Amino acid sequence: MAKIKVGYTPNNRADVVKSGVLKAVLSNISKQGVPFFYFECHSGEGRYEKSLGCFYDGSAFQARDILKRVTSLDPEMVLHEIKKNPRAELVKNTDGWPSLTVGSDWTKDVNKYLPKMDNNGLVFSDPTFFEDHRPILERAPEILATGIPMMVYLPEGVGVNNKNGQFEFRGKTYTKRELADATFRLLDDKKPEDNALIEVCYPACGGALERIDHFYLVVPRDVSKQVKQESLEAALAGEPQRGKEAKKRYKGLVKVIEGS
Ligand SMILES: C[S@@+](CC[C@H](N)C(=O)[O-])C[C@H]1O[C@@H](n2cnc3c(N)ncnc32)[C@H](O)[C@@H]1O
Repeated sequence: MAKIKVGYTPNNRADVVKSGVLKAVLSNISKQGVPFFYFECHSGEGRYEKSLGCFYDGSAFQARDILKRVTSLDPEMVLHEIKKNPRAELVKNTDGWPSLTVGSDWTKDVNKYLPKMDNNGLVFSDPTFFEDHRPILERAPEILATGIPMMVYLPEGVGVNNKNGQFEFRGKTYTKRELADATFRLLDDKKPEDNALIEVCYPACGGALERIDHFYLVVPRDVSKQVKQESLEAALAGEPQRGKEAKKRYKGLVKVIEGS
């Protein structure tokens, strides 16, 4: 499927894994009859037209479907898209959804929603570029303090912000790997006691070692085992068909790491 204007390719390998992990998280943290609050930082258009009249559901549509099925209620959804044209598409695509707010820059909006956040909800970050991961590092402590679960995608390798392929954050220079580690430590340190941190790492595209992507999942401890298992299955299921040898090598690169 062609890239949309904001650089995101719906239904590519990283996207297939993302859908599976989102399902693993949402179906385990939401409960029948309990209202759910879904805050999405990066929504794109919400749904994408593959060919005339044929659509591919992005994360907002997938999340809504899962949540309606599990809770039997309409979730309260706050979706964000900073770019004007995709935001206009998002508004059009979600027309008529009850309990929906569409915003622009999530970082300008998040304070207003902190009081609504508790363990019956999810904050999902899905940036295209590494650089857009920065605000998550800045705001995660306050978000986590509310007790809300988080699903954070880190597109390691896309859009690093200096010539040496490194990333600057608060006066320090990090390699991609170091920033992934810093994200892990930050979320692990700041999550409340009754939440667990799971990191899912997987090769995202091209040759097996070309790029490693990461999901960081902060979920209640009582469902973490199940989320971990289902996320691992999602990471493996997104694997492209290859020769036996390549497949073996590739499988070894999918890792699920648990925090403290
Ligand atoms: C990977 S796409 C999102 C895809 C979407 N989650 C889906 O599955 O359909 C990332 C989007 O985040 C948007 N974006 C980047 N920074 C943002 C911000 N601070 N607030 C809101 N949107 C932002 C980009 O314009 C881009 O459309």
